[in-house]
Amino acid sequence: MKRKKRLKKSVSILVVLIMIVVGISIIYPKINNKQGNKELPIIQYQKEITTTLGKEIDLLQDVTATSNKQEALTVSVEGTYNFQKEGEYHLFYVAKDKEGNEKKESFTLKVVKQEANEPIDENHFTTSKGFKGEIRNGATYIEGTLIVNKTYALPSSFGNGLTEETKTAFNKLKAAALLDGFDIYISSGFRSYERQVTLYNNYVKRDGKAAADTYSARPGHSEHQSGLTFDVNEISDKFHNTPEAKWLSENCYKYGFILRFPNGKEKETGYKYESWHFRYVGEELATKLYNNGDWLTLEGYFGITSEYQD
Ligand code: DAL
Ligand code: ZN
Repeated sequence: MKRKKRLKKSVSILVVLIMIVVGISIIYPKINNKQGNKELPIIQYQKEITTTLGKEIDLLQDVTATSNKQEALTVSVEGTYNFQKEGEYHLFYVAKDKEGNEKKESFTLKVVKQEANEPIDENHFTTSKGFKGEIRNGATYIEGTLIVNKTYALPSSFGNGLTEETKTAFNKLKAAALLDGFDIYISSGFRSYERQVTLYNNYVKRDGKAAADTYSARPGHSEHQSGLTFDVNEISDKFHNTPEAKWLSENCYKYGFILRFPNGKEKETGYKYESWHFRYVGEELATKLYNNGDWLTLEGYFGITSEYQD
């Protein structure tokens, strides 16, 4: 009987000991970020990321992984998601070191719908593609890029010549074109609001309002007033067939310029194709819009309209 009791006591002690050992082995790696004896990478990340439908973001942009060992880590996203489909996606960040030690952290990607040009307050809105718009002193900027088209106008007092940035970039473009044997020159650069009044009214007199609106901007709506735009060489449909026009279309983005009214994009820009009209946006955006030779428009890229309100 005594033996039986002692045996029972020993078994109970053993069970308690086993529980303690198992408990420590579960808790200890968590505290110490170790799996067995392995050092695991540590991931710094956001638990929840929200983007608007159609706006692709880099999920690894703000993610960092570190380990005690001085070695490079790879981080990847595990799971499926679709920026083109509304939803809540439950995903993982996986950080691995060279030995294959792996750390996984779960996060949520939310892809939410937003109405086109949804106002946030009277000076801020979000475009249908999720870009942020801001109105400053009566002019509209999307992610810092000044927008002038049929929807977005400039105040009549805006502008006083081509900006220094535009002039500098043009000089670089001109020099590069010359090296390739082409002479590019500005035929029409900055135009004031008043100058556009005269031009537009003359076109309306000559061709009627509907026709004029397909190729000439109403006062306040011309990019020429922005100081970021110019027409080059021959302002005519014939320019398209020149080697200069081809060179510009293929190279202008390298200097921060875009072909502002590409062929076949009339519905987006609101204007007929203009092979001679270039707009400075900076090299980063210009390269995106160049799109390997298949020009995108500011309107299509940002998800905005170019339509007169009246
Ligand atoms: N020709 C362009 C659309 C302008 O008038 O600004
Ligand atoms: Zn022009």
